[in-house]
Amino acid sequence: MAFFQKLFSQSAPSIIGLDIGSTSIKLAQIGKTSGGLKVLKLAVQQTPSLAVKDGTIVDQATVAQEIKDLIKKHNISSKQVVSAVSGQPIVIRTITMPVMTQKELDNSIRYEAERYIPYSVAEANISGHILRKQLPGDDKNMEVLLMAAPKEMINNHQETIIQSGLQVEAIELEPVALPRIMGLTSKTEELRQTISLINIGAGSTSITIVKDGVLRNSRTIAIGGNSFTKAIAQGMNLSFEDAEKLKKEKASVRIEKDATPVAPTVMRLFNTMLPVLIELVTEIQRSFDFYRSRYRGESVDLIYLSGGTAKFKNLDRYLGGELGVHVELLRPFQKLGDSRVPGFTPEEASEIEQASAVVLGLACRHLN
Ligand SMILES: Nc1ncnc2c1ncn2[C@@H]1O[C@H](COP(=O)(O)OP(=O)(O)OP(=O)(O)O)[C@@H](O)[C@H]1O
Ligand SMILES: [Mg+2]
Repeated sequence: MAFFQKLFSQSAPSIIGLDIGSTSIKLAQIGKTSGGLKVLKLAVQQTPSLAVKDGTIVDQATVAQEIKDLIKKHNISSKQVVSAVSGQPIVIRTITMPVMTQKELDNSIRYEAERYIPYSVAEANISGHILRKQLPGDDKNMEVLLMAAPKEMINNHQETIIQSGLQVEAIELEPVALPRIMGLTSKTEELRQTISLINIGAGSTSITIVKDGVLRNSRTIAIGGNSFTKAIAQGMNLSFEDAEKLKKEKASVRIEKDATPVAPTVMRLFNTMLPVLIELVTEIQRSFDFYRSRYRGESVDLIYLSGGTAKFKNLDRYLGGELGVHVELLRPFQKLGDSRVPGFTPEEASEIEQASAVVLGLACRHLN
């Protein structure tokens, strides 16, 4: 018995993935077993009302206490946390720079970044990563992935995690965490495709494009589940809470070719949300067009939807039809090879599968 305990403790993961969203706080641990990767712990807890707004933790003390409670409840002994910041201030861009080494790039990226980030470089955490050492037909220039986030946002996350009694291993940008699950689990043929990972949370949506498992571009827009809820609240004169409930219970996206008649309330709900849907499609299309112009006509082959709003009924089919690209819901549990999640029935696990994509990507950081 002691021998097995020892074996188990040796393979116990040391990293805790922590995704502090405006709707829910998610926590995960992933371990390597002989059968592949496995979700060892997963916890999803509603974020205290108004404690997180637009990617910033407004009420640090309450969120820290919530995390502390989650750690205790789930009997987690490790302390090292990988978390992420998200939202519109995140900048991830592919840029062209003269050929140089990674070290030279580390020294010069701040000056270059000035043109691309809408806040002062002095107030930002910035990094550059060489994507292509040379451009086709241009051996003087290289391609760099520029990543930036406001220092204040990162500090805010760091402070909250420390207040909860944990240690910070890394604070990443949300779009960087998502492709990791695919990189670790997908077959080579799938990775060869140009894949867009679209994470639709509550406050924002990140549209990321990955090719050969490498992140090439990402943009975060201020449209998310809350935009639909606000449209319903306004259009039907309801409180945000009532509109949110109605959205989850009754709303679905109407697909034109579905001839089956729907109840007048469902039709009214759909019409109320239509402007948000159109805006979402327009923004995704903009990202795809930008990608196509940058990569000489390469287009997106497949879209994976994640985030809580991926559960919105028929949204996948609607986006597929409007964008002319095959859309699937991202199935991170299934991708990890074992859809069983400790503490959740299969139905409950399926309910939270897309919303858990980011936290699982964070928890995978040490497995690369
Ligand atoms: N069945 C459903 N139909 C429609 N929307 C849903 C459904 N289930 C959850 N959502 C929406 O998903 C959103 C929450 O998703 P998620 O957990 O990814 O957000 P978050 O990470 O807390 O937020 P953010 O990252 O934007 O701060 C909410 O807007 C919620 O209304
Ligand atoms: Mg989120």
